[in-house]
Formats: sequence, C-alpha cells, structure tokens
Amino acid sequence: MVTAVPFVAELHVLRNPDELFRAAAEYVVAEAGAAVRDRGRFVIALSGGSTPRGLFETLGSDGFRGRASWEAWHVFWGDERAVPSDDERSNYRTAKVALLDRVPIPRVHVHRVRGEMPLAESAAAYEREITDLLGPSPAFDLVLLGVGADGHTASLFPGDPALDENRRLVVPSVEASNVPRVTFTLRLINSARAATFLATGADKAPMVRRAARPTPGEKPVPAGRVALASGNLHWFLTPDAAAELPTISA
Ligand code: 6PG
Repeated sequence: MVTAVPFVAELHVLRNPDELFRAAAEYVVAEAGAAVRDRGRFVIALSGGSTPRGLFETLGSDGFRGRASWEAWHVFWGDERAVPSDDERSNYRTAKVALLDRVPIPRVHVHRVRGEMPLAESAAAYEREITDLLGPSPAFDLVLLGVGADGHTASLFPGDPALDENRRLVVPSVEASNVPRVTFTLRLINSARAATFLATGADKAPMVRRAARPTPGEKPVPAGRVALASGNLHWFLTPDAAAELPTISA
C-alpha cells in the first residue's frame, strides 16, 4: 500500500522583519544563481500585497544588487488586481518602485498582468504569455507567496471556484474581497520548482499554522493547498506569525 508522504515545508523563523527579508533575499539570489547556471535564466513569480515590499527593497539594495544576473531574470506576478499599472493597489507598481526601477532586468523580461483589460481576457492573455515562455506545462523556478488572515494565497480565496480549477493556469478571482483580480491556479503554483511564503504579523499566525502544519482532518485553507509536485516549499516567518506553530520537540 502506498502511504501518503507527509507534506513537509521548511520553516525559517527570523527574529524580525529585516532579518526575514535578508534571509529571504539570500534564498532568492541562491535560487536565481542555480537556475541561471542550470538553465540560463531565472523565471520568478512575485507575490503581491505589502509583505514582500521589504524583500524587493532588500534585493534592490547595495548589499544585493550586485549579486544576481538580472539580465537573465524573467519576472511575472502570481496575482494582480484589476487596476491600472500606476494604481497604488497594483502589485506590479509595488515591485516596480521597490525593485524593478533599481536593477537591470530587461523590460521585455518584465511580464505585467494587463489589469486594465477585462478580467477574463487579461487572464487568458497572461496564461499565453506564460506558456509562450515556459511551454505547455510551465514550471516556474520560484513562486513567492503571501497568506491572508483568511488563509488565501495569491488571489485564491476560501470558497473561490478557482481553487478547484485544474485545467487553466491563470483565472479571474471572483471571491476577491476588495477588487477583482487575476490569479495563478494551484495547478500552476504546484508545478513550480520552488515556492516560498513570507508572513509577518500576529494576525497571520492562525493561518500559518493551518497551512504549514495542518492537523489531521482539518479542512485545508487555500494556502494549505500549496503542495509542490516536486519542488521545495519554504516559509519565512517572524516570531509573531509563527506563534501558533507546534514547537519542535527537543
Ligand atoms: C495580493 C496578494 C495576496 C497577499 C496576501 C497577504 O495581491 O493581495 O498576492 O495573496 O499575499 O493578501 O497580503 P499582505 O502581505 O499585505 O498581508
């Protein structure tokens, strides 16, 4: 009988957000270096929201700017709000200000979701842009993810039919709480070679525990359904976000 291999994620609990962003930046540049060495390019999907801004700023800082082959990077977004690219809520804008304007990633390697287009059209066009670069079974080198206080990740919200989409790679998100969005599906996320969550704040602690260390029989939250088919999953956390994780017995 085949027994289910327990799903394991590597947890990194850092002392504070600055140390978290530095540790996560070290991890990203290491993944990027390996990808460029092995495949000649690094294809990453950035997460949205506010948490990753510190990571983007760290990657664009003097301490890291010289440590990546930026010309070999391709940047996508795991989700995007249906807003213009210069809108404060745009995940593209967040990354542009904090990172893309500070490092020499070729403009044609920055693959922005056309949030200003009708949602279904934007999702389909983005899926084509991904498969044009990565082929019909795309595997990102790294997918960055956040987690919401309701357990959502990317723009996969509890109860959203997109959670059970297993054919398409990018879909509209209809359950989005504040603004319509486009999101990677779990099929695309779980095909990645590596993925990492970043989470800070006590408000995330319950969902970090439910996602990273679910108890048997517990209904998985969207973030808990990230289970890479053959990649490595990491969580970079601050102590407040990790507070409900079971302590590792000595
Ligand atoms: C988005 C994100 C979303 C985010 C979480 C956490 O576009 O909102 O992709 O999944 O990662 O909501 O957001 P914060 O980092 O702002 O807490």
